[in-house]
Amino acid sequence: MIQAKTATNVLLLETTRLRLRRFRRDDVDVVFAIIGDAIAMKYYPRTFNRKDAEDWVERNFQRYAAHGYGFFAVTLKESDEMIGDCGILHQEVEGKDELEVGYHLRRDHWGHGYATEAARACMEFAFLTLRAEKVISLIRPENLPSRRVAERNGMKVERQVIHAKLPHLVYAITRKEFEDKRLATRSDLINHL
Ligand SMILES: CC(C)(COP(=O)(O)OP(=O)(O)OC[C@H]1O[C@@H](n2cnc3c(N)ncnc32)[C@H](O)[C@@H]1OP(=O)(O)O)[C@@H](O)C(=O)NCCC(=O)NCCS
Repeated sequence: MIQAKTATNVLLLETTRLRLRRFRRDDVDVVFAIIGDAIAMKYYPRTFNRKDAEDWVERNFQRYAAHGYGFFAVTLKESDEMIGDCGILHQEVEGKDELEVGYHLRRDHWGHGYATEAARACMEFAFLTLRAEKVISLIRPENLPSRRVAERNGMKVERQVIHAKLPHLVYAITRKEFEDKRLATRSDLINHL
């Protein structure tokens, strides 16, 4: 189990093009632009409404309080614009607590490698700061863009499970594999917990 970190300090991850910061309440509009978008939510059981987006942000405040991390707002460094979220979540998979890297981007920012870049920074945070042994991503088999993000970051399919009543692939990578692949970009990353 990952140790909870102090929730009061600021967390910031920085990559070449992106900055990841904690959600603010006024991020609800961007969250809704993603989870309220039927095309972006194609592999989810449903498209979400504005109240769901408010709950989404609120749940992450609870995650920050419990663990110090959760989904973070992904912003473009050059404009400060929020384009999505990405982060590290606790997920129970077949009765075991796992750390998952997850990501959702606004559709007008797909195809630029931002999800790959943000996810890699979060994986680095999980391995180097939280000292996680393994990071997973739960991905619907049909969700090819998400699978490509996982694969580009060195994850491999471990098994298939039923999660949230739907088949999901468990993509996984261990700390050793991550370090061996030299995926870490420590010089590129600042984080304060
Ligand atoms: C998953 C998601 C974040 C990926 O965003 P993205 O901008 O395409 O990500 P990236 O640009 O970093 O890389 C995606 C890779 O998938 C590929 N890809 C994108 N769309 C694709 C498609 N429709 N079919 C197959 N591959 C696709 C890209 O070409 C790229 O691979 P490549 O560089 O080898 O060509 C985005 O699709 C999204 O927000 N989806 C909705 C939320 C979601 O499903 N989240 C994941 C839940 S598990």
